[in-house]
Amino acid sequence: MSHTVVIPCAGKGTRLYPMTKNTSKSMLDLGNFKIIDYAISESLMSGATKIILIISPDDLKLKKHINNIYNSNKLPFVQDINKFTIDFIMVEQITPKGLGDAINLAKVHISENHFGIILPDDFIFSTNPILKNMREVSLNLKSNILLGKKISKDLVSNFGIIELSDYKNSSYRKVACLKEKPHPNNTQSNISILGRYYLSTKIFDYLDILNPGHGGEIQLTDALVELLKSENFYVIDNQSIHFDVGSKDGYNDANNYLSQL
Ligand code: G1P
Repeated sequence: MSHTVVIPCAGKGTRLYPMTKNTSKSMLDLGNFKIIDYAISESLMSGATKIILIISPDDLKLKKHINNIYNSNKLPFVQDINKFTIDFIMVEQITPKGLGDAINLAKVHISENHFGIILPDDFIFSTNPILKNMREVSLNLKSNILLGKKISKDLVSNFGIIELSDYKNSSYRKVACLKEKPHPNNTQSNISILGRYYLSTKIFDYLDILNPGHGGEIQLTDALVELLKSENFYVIDNQSIHFDVGSKDGYNDANNYLSQL
């Protein structure tokens, strides 16, 4: 069964400056690999048949790395990439206009009804790929699936925030409302959206017509808010170790963690 995963990697990496001065965030070392390699492995292990990378036009290192990925055959958790048949597509995001804009660039390459998204900044260390689990739950519930993480209340304005409805079972809960980086006074919830999504391609109808939102950018969460009016969303809690490797502390912590394994 075909399964597409979109990996946006065109972000400027300003929080990691000056490390990202000459190397994009995705190409920074993480353990024995690059940040992007973990997202690719997670895609492969979740059954991806097509991986769409949204890249910055001048990121020659990333382009070379992807073009050479079958030859180098060096990925975390994956013994031999040649056992997988993957269609790698690189799409250039000419101007960084936000996560929603980046995802929308993948539209013309997706033919299935649902697809996955992995944000490489959210490094989740697990041999049991969460996106695989999200895809199974999505097929089962015929719904959109988000990944959630409880955060401290003072951090809600840094993330997409999930407000829950009363419905829940042991492995997932129903989403009532979503807000992109709200002021702490504007939400009772402290459940953040982590960078894994399994979504209906109907999301593109909204991404096409969205006005810029938070920070003047096209926000994926704003499109999710629109889709939530006609489709169900459920959230799975992240159970695995997670680091925000887009921040200096998270990046250093992740490298320390990996060096002690
Ligand atoms: C993006 C999303 C946000 C989500 C976060 C997860 O924010 O817009 O909703 O919570 O990823 O990492 P960004 O990290 O691009 O600011």
